[in-house]
Amino acid sequence: MPNKQNISKLAKVARKVREHAHAPYSHFQVGAAIESYGGKIFSGCNVENISYGLTICAERNAVSAAVASGARSFRRIVIVADSKEPVTPCGACRQVLSEFSDAMEVISVNLDGKEFRATLAELLPRSKAGILDHPGST
Ligand code: THU
Repeated sequence: MPNKQNISKLAKVARKVREHAHAPYSHFQVGAAIESYGGKIFSGCNVENISYGLTICAERNAVSAAVASGARSFRRIVIVADSKEPVTPCGACRQVLSEFSDAMEVISVNLDGKEFRATLAELLPRSKAGILDHPGST
C-alpha cells in the first residue's frame, strides 16, 4: 500500500478509536493507530483516572495493544485529536515508543486535517544512550 493511503487508513482508525477515549476530566479525546512492519494496525485511546497521574495516553495504549498481540517493531504512528495544532506525544510516550523503534514516523493530525510529522528520533534524541550500557546512536 502506498504511504499516503496507509496514513489515511491509520488516521481513520485513530479517529474511530478516539471516540472511545475515557476523558471525563480533561474532555480532550485522543486516538492513536500504530502500524507494525508486518503491516498490522493497532489502536488506543487515552484513558483518564480520577487520580489524574494514572492517566494513560492514547499512544501508550496503542503500543501496549500491539505488544500484547506480538508486534514489536513499528513503521509509524498516527495520532488524532481535536486541537488547534496537532498534538505531539508527551515525553513518557516518546520514551515508551522509542523502546521499539527510533526510526518510526510520528504523524499527528487534528480534525481539520492539519498535520505534523517527525521521526521519533527527532522528537527524542539519545533516548537510550548510556542506559544499561546501550550505545546511543541518535
Ligand atoms: N493525551 C494523549 O492521550 N496523547 C497526547 O499526545 C496528548 C495528551 C491525553 C492525556 C490526557 O488524557 C489528555 O490528553 C489531556 O492531556
